[in-house]
Formats: sequence, C-alpha cells, structure tokens
Amino acid sequence: MTVKNNPLSSIVVSGPIPAHLARPVIEETLRNAILDGRLPCGTAIRQEALAQLFGVSRMPVREALRQLEAQSLLQVVQYKGAVVAPLIEDNSLHAYELRLLLEAQALRLSVPLLADEDFEAAEGYIEALEVETDFGKIGTLNRQFHQTLYCKAPNKKLLALIETGLIEEERFLRFNLKQMNLGKLCQDDHRALLHHARARDIEACIAELESHLQRGVKAITHYLDTQKAKQP
Ligand code: NI
Repeated sequence: MTVKNNPLSSIVVSGPIPAHLARPVIEETLRNAILDGRLPCGTAIRQEALAQLFGVSRMPVREALRQLEAQSLLQVVQYKGAVVAPLIEDNSLHAYELRLLLEAQALRLSVPLLADEDFEAAEGYIEALEVETDFGKIGTLNRQFHQTLYCKAPNKKLLALIETGLIEEERFLRFNLKQMNLGKLCQDDHRALLHHARARDIEACIAELESHLQRGVKAITHYLDTQKAKQP
C-alpha cells in the first residue's frame, strides 16, 4: 500500500495524547473521519497502524474500535478485521421500527419532566437547523434536537440505545440529505413535536414522531431501490 492510498493519511494527530484520553480521542477522531467520508465504507481499520499513528498501545485502540462497532460504524469481518460499515443495511427498516418503539418510550418518560430550559434548547436547535447548510452539521443538530426531547428519561440504557440509532441516521443523512430534499418537511415535524411536548400531549408527540420517522423509512426504501437498480 502506498502512502497516497493509505486512508489513515487523512487523519491528523496533533501531538502526544495523555494515556487516559487515548480511547475517547481515537474514538472521536475515527468517528468524524467515518462520518465525513474520509474513511469510506469497506475501509479496513488496522489496530497496529492506528496505535502507531496515535502513538499509543493497542489496548485503547481496541477499546475505541469496540465502541465504534457498538455504534454500527464499524463491522468486524472474518479474516479482514474491522472495516467501516456500509452506509445502510438491508435491516435498516427494522432499525426504524425499533427506533419508534424506543423513542416513543423515551417521550413517555421524558416529556412530563421537561423544563423550560429544555424547550428553549430544542427551539434553539430548530432555529439552528433553519440556517445551517452543512449536511454534516444538519445531521448533528437533528440528533441533538431529538435527544433534547428525550433527555429527562431516567433510563440511561434506553437513551444509549436511542443514541446509537440516531448516530446511524446521522451518517445516512450526511450523504443523502441533499437528494432526499426533506429539509422543510422535517422542520415542520420538529416544530409540531416541540409544540406537543410543550403541551405535555404525549400521544400527539408519539403520533408526530411516527410520521417523522416514516419519512426516514421512505427515504431509505428509495435509496435501497436505487442502489438495487444500479446493480448489473
Ligand atoms: Ni428529525
């Protein structure tokens, strides 16, 4: 492999990393490189090369890779090791079904406990989405908006599962938002969600979330259909 073709060459490490920060720094750096496409789908991620690049032992590298695998950003393939996961999987529609269950439950637990500052934060994300043009940042703001509505749910395990689903979606949005042309419709949904949350109308919130997630299902179905049409 030449240096030019080395996908890790796009990753810049600024100086030595303190040992206790190694895992989170490696995780964050790789996550950003996967999300912005510097490490494309199918790229093999070698522990040794990473340990060398970051100037650390293999242990924090292994831990970081495990985290990214749990977030569905990496996959472990037999004989190949960890590779960057495909943008979307055939089971993505099932993932949406699960998301609706999990996020509806989070709304039930969280909405009654939301405070004024949570509503203001959610409003802030909607306003930021209104003016943001960078697709990567739009994906992040969308995730933060949704997480704000769930944040008071006391079940941290539930919130962690939800975050994984949202990160998966964030990655998809980053590459497909433009084609999906969903911006305006999604914002209407977001405003409606916030409105119902403020009114503490949980059932209306859940109904709105369902139609919001349905847009995602449609976009993904369309994406999978066009991918299939491209295959010989
Ligand atoms: Ni959304």
